[in-house]
This record gives sequence, structure tokens and C-alpha cells, in this order.
Amino acid sequence: MEKVIIFDTTLRDGEQSAGGALTAEEKLEIAKQLDRLGVDVIEAGFPLSSKGELEAVRRIATEVRRPTICALAHAQTEAVDAAWESIKDARHPRIHVFLSSSDIHIFHQLKKSRDQILEASRDMVARAKGYLEDVEFSPMDATRTDPEYIYRILEAVIEAGATTVNIPDTVGYTIPQEFCNLIDGIFKNVPNIHHAVVSVHCHNDLGLAVANSLAVLDHGARQIECTINGIGERAGNASLEEIVMAIKTRNDLLKYTTDIDTTQIYKTSRLVSDLTGMSVQPNKAIVGANAFRHESGIHQDGIIKERTTYEIMDPESIGLAGTTLSLGKLSGRHAFRKRLEELGYALSDEDLSRAFSAFKELADKKREITDRDLEALVAEELRTVHETYHLEHVQVSCGDPSIPTASVRLTGPERQLLSDAAQGTGPVDAVYKAINRLVGVPNQLIEFSVKSVTEGIDAIGEVTVRIESEGKRYAGRGAHTDIIVASARAYMNALNRLLAARR
Ligand code: KIV
Ligand code: ZN
Repeated sequence: MEKVIIFDTTLRDGEQSAGGALTAEEKLEIAKQLDRLGVDVIEAGFPLSSKGELEAVRRIATEVRRPTICALAHAQTEAVDAAWESIKDARHPRIHVFLSSSDIHIFHQLKKSRDQILEASRDMVARAKGYLEDVEFSPMDATRTDPEYIYRILEAVIEAGATTVNIPDTVGYTIPQEFCNLIDGIFKNVPNIHHAVVSVHCHNDLGLAVANSLAVLDHGARQIECTINGIGERAGNASLEEIVMAIKTRNDLLKYTTDIDTTQIYKTSRLVSDLTGMSVQPNKAIVGANAFRHESGIHQDGIIKERTTYEIMDPESIGLAGTTLSLGKLSGRHAFRKRLEELGYALSDEDLSRAFSAFKELADKKREITDRDLEALVAEELRTVHETYHLEHVQVSCGDPSIPTASVRLTGPERQLLSDAAQGTGPVDAVYKAINRLVGVPNQLIEFSVKSVTEGIDAIGEVTVRIESEGKRYAGRGAHTDIIVASARAYMNALNRLLAARR
């Protein structure tokens, strides 16, 4: 069976859509998890966009050694040079050059001629090739480009040294049959096409990104560009987990392999949604909260008798163990560490101590602790963001009728204790106002969502927020059985990220 190269662009196309929400540490943490997941290529960022982005890509290139680390550049000298600068220390570096090819883009946006575009594409691929062997080229908006012109561009860039040519459906416009015809045309009309790997990069504006990506495999495409949870510009990119699980589950028809360790999928999905603040919709295929949940009586009856009646995939195959932790209030540290290790978390002694005391606190409040609770707890305790301000205490008074009032106490940057109180339209508003009085960083709350990690009245509540300050967005997440505490923690998390990024 032929292998499909999995090119993950969560940290580039995905992060672009999250408004640059990730810090360098967070990008690195995701890159390390993508490595464990087994992706072949990590597109780590667009280094020309900022110095911070260049540094973040450089750190990934230095610390993540197995996969190819790719940096994106538009077809301009400075962009290609910045891309090289960021990945030159990678064990397997790649530069991905792109330039729009459709008339709509080149005449209206770039205001250039077709010949100028072809020349710039060829020249910038040649420039990248001067730095390294592995060069990818994408004619942006390929699916709305005159195919004859794509053939000419591809022939020129392969001649200049491109080893992968990627066909992006930038605006998610194509449908499977049309996309297959385009790929067939490329194989038929580009004389040197066999010197390059043909890749695809599909957006999901019509909900067809995964279908389009899978359809072209039988037509010769051997690399798929995708993202965790399908995040990406607008409606997102093809979702990695859907592509990989479709190939695995329907291997009778999709006779290909990938190097993905599917048992890492769930964990990677959680990490990406925690750090980007982009929640996964409950009915999302593979990783949504309802993906393996059976509601109707008839379905439940079938599942009890024989799982395969209504389940085409084993939840364990994506790393969703779903078992209930048989630890309680009286359980020891050793058993706790062992369960975390089984879930794939290797904690230092210091982290373990923090997580263990959080576990004990939770065990006092919650009768049954599931693996999902444990994951929420670990995510809460072990986030890598440096805490400039730490939440020590929060208390609210609210009701009907009443004026919601909150008091908070924080530890500040010099370890000093700070406290204040505020009133708001509701308890969360009051808490956020009190925190703002102490931290004093102007920002706007643009998203707030709360969901429960598991069923039941004693469930952990997970709050995700996004704040905006000086045109940049920062996500924050907090979990607690008390949703006001979870809300305060999520806000503190976002503020600490903002402060870390500014530093
Ligand atoms: O969607 C797109 O066209 C892109 C390119 C940079 C490949 O993301
Ligand atoms: Zn894209």
C-alpha cells in the first residue's frame, strides 16, 4: 500500500485563523505533540510575518527533530530568506513558496500579468533551492485558475527545483469530480510532474475539504495538507483526524497508509483546542464530544449487544479510553501517577505534586473521576504559560434581586498580594472587572463559552475565553467544578498569555 504524506498546517493556516493566539512555548508544545502523533511535515509558521513568529519557528526547528519542519514564504526575496533563517537548523528543513495564480487574484489583488507571476514563482523557488533541497510550491487559488496556466507554472517551478507541488483549493470552491479532473490534467500535461510529489490543500467553505482531499488519492496525489480539528482560514482546512480515520476505517477502498499513531488523535485535538481557544463542536466527526455517544434507545440497545451495530470505529483507536478512574479520595500518589502515564502524560515530580493536590481537591467534590476529568485537570495545572499574575481567591455575591459583586485576590509580578472588588452586570462581569482593576491591561472580551467536561451535576465546567488587545487575540482556558472560578481562571490565563507575548 502506498503511503500518504501527512502535512500538518495547524501551526500556520490553523493559527492564522486563531488570530495568532499562540505563544512560542505553546507552538512548541503543539509541535512536540504533532511529532508524537506521527505527522510527516509540520508547517510551523510564516516567518516573515513577525520576529516572534520567526523565533517560534526556529525553536520548533531546533527542538523537534523527526518530522520535516516547513516554513511558508510568499514569492518574495525577504520572505524566502526569512523562511530559510527560521528553519536552517532543522534536521529536515522545507521552504514552502506560494503565489496566487488565478486571474481574480493576479489582476485584482496583485495587479500583475500572468508572465510576471510565472517568473516570480520560478525565481523564488530557485532562490529557496539555493538554500536547501526540499522546496514546495503552491499556486494559490489553483481551483479557480485556468488549468493550462497551472500546467505552465508547475513545469517551470519543478524545473527550478520544486520537489513538492501543492494544489490549493484556497477558497473551498471545488467539488470532488472537478478536483480529480484537475489532478488528472496536471499528470497528463506537466511533462516533468514525476519529479515532484503532488500535494493538495483544501479549505472547507462548502464542507468538502476532506472529501476533495481523499478523492484525489486515486488520481495520484500523495501528500495531504490538513489541520487538527480542521481549524484554518474561514470554515477551516481539511481535518487531519477525519482524513486519517477515513483511510484507516475504509482501507478496503482507500488502499493507502499513513504513519499517524491514531491513539494520539484525541489528545492532540484537546491540546489544540485548549491552546487556541477554538472549541470543537460536539457533533464534530472523530473528536467531538458526541462522536462516540449513543442517545437513542435503539442505538444503546444495539451497542450493549454488539458494539459494531452502531460504531464503525473503536474509541480506543483515537486514544479515547473512556474508562472511569477507580481512584478516590483515599488513593495514593503512585496510583495517580500510573493512571496519568497510561493516559500518556509523563510528569515531572513537581508537576505531579501540583496535579495530585488538584486531584485531591477534585476528589473531595466529585464522586466519580473519569479520564476526561483527569485530562481537564492536567491541562489546567500544566499549561506552559508563565503566570505574571496568579489567582489566589475569588468570591462573588449575586442573585435576583441583587447587584453582582466580586472580590478577588491575586499575587502580582513581585509576589505581592493584591486585592480589589467590583460590581458588574453579572457575576462573571463583576469578577473580570475586579481583575482588570488589578492587572490594568486594556482589553476586550470577545468570546466566552462554558461547557461541562462530563455529564452529571458535579461535572467540571470548562470555560474558554478570547480577549483582544492592540489588534491581537489571546485565548484562555480554566476548569473547575465552580464555573465562576473556572471563568476567573480562564480570564487570568488569557491575560497571562497576553503579558507573556508582550514580554
Ligand atoms: O489556502 C491556501 O492557498 C494556502 C496557501 C498558502 C497554500 O494556505
Ligand atoms: Zn490555506
